[in-house]
Amino acid sequence: ARLAILLSGRGSNMLSLVQATQTGVLQGLAEVVVVFSNKPDAPGLELAVAQGYPVASLPSQGRKREAFDAEAAELLQQYHPDFVVLAGYMRILSPAFIQPFAGRILNIHPADTHQHQGLHAYEWAFDNQLAETKITVHLVDEGLDTGPILAQETVDLRGADTLAEVERRGLAVEHHLYAQVLADLIINKQKRSC
Ligand code: GRF
Repeated sequence: ARLAILLSGRGSNMLSLVQATQTGVLQGLAEVVVVFSNKPDAPGLELAVAQGYPVASLPSQGRKREAFDAEAAELLQQYHPDFVVLAGYMRILSPAFIQPFAGRILNIHPADTHQHQGLHAYEWAFDNQLAETKITVHLVDEGLDTGPILAQETVDLRGADTLAEVERRGLAVEHHLYAQVLADLIINKQKRSC
């Protein structure tokens, strides 16, 4: 399967997915065909370049949502992705973007999307002193972290007494869950088309 990975920032989930295609659960199942950003200076883009992957960017700043999304979708369609994988892509998507990839856009959210949506999910878990939180991988619709849930995994937060430790534990789960969910999706899709 062909993966387009979209990011706006650091890119640690992008890197873990790239690694999974090289030597992990996505090996032989998926290839990253482009890493795209709405922020031309996103650190994650540089990481992708350093890994030798094709990158593309389109600045979203100052653009109207629908017009930007239509242009971004058109750009991405040139890479014929089977899945559009949001990895810290800090935008709510409009129908202009969702429609061409309907049912094939995934997001990872560092909380239970029934309990927390939007930014600062690890801060929310830390501030509320949660004993555990959840990482959610879901399909993307027009809402903010509202699409159908594909998988969740619990993060044990007992004894995590700094925000950095909460994030460290959460990201460790994010980094293996996202690749695993994609692998399962791709395998199921292959079975259905046999
Ligand atoms: C992750 O915590 C992800 O769950 C959220 O944004 C963050 C992106 O981090 N959607 P990174 O850029 O993948 O390191």
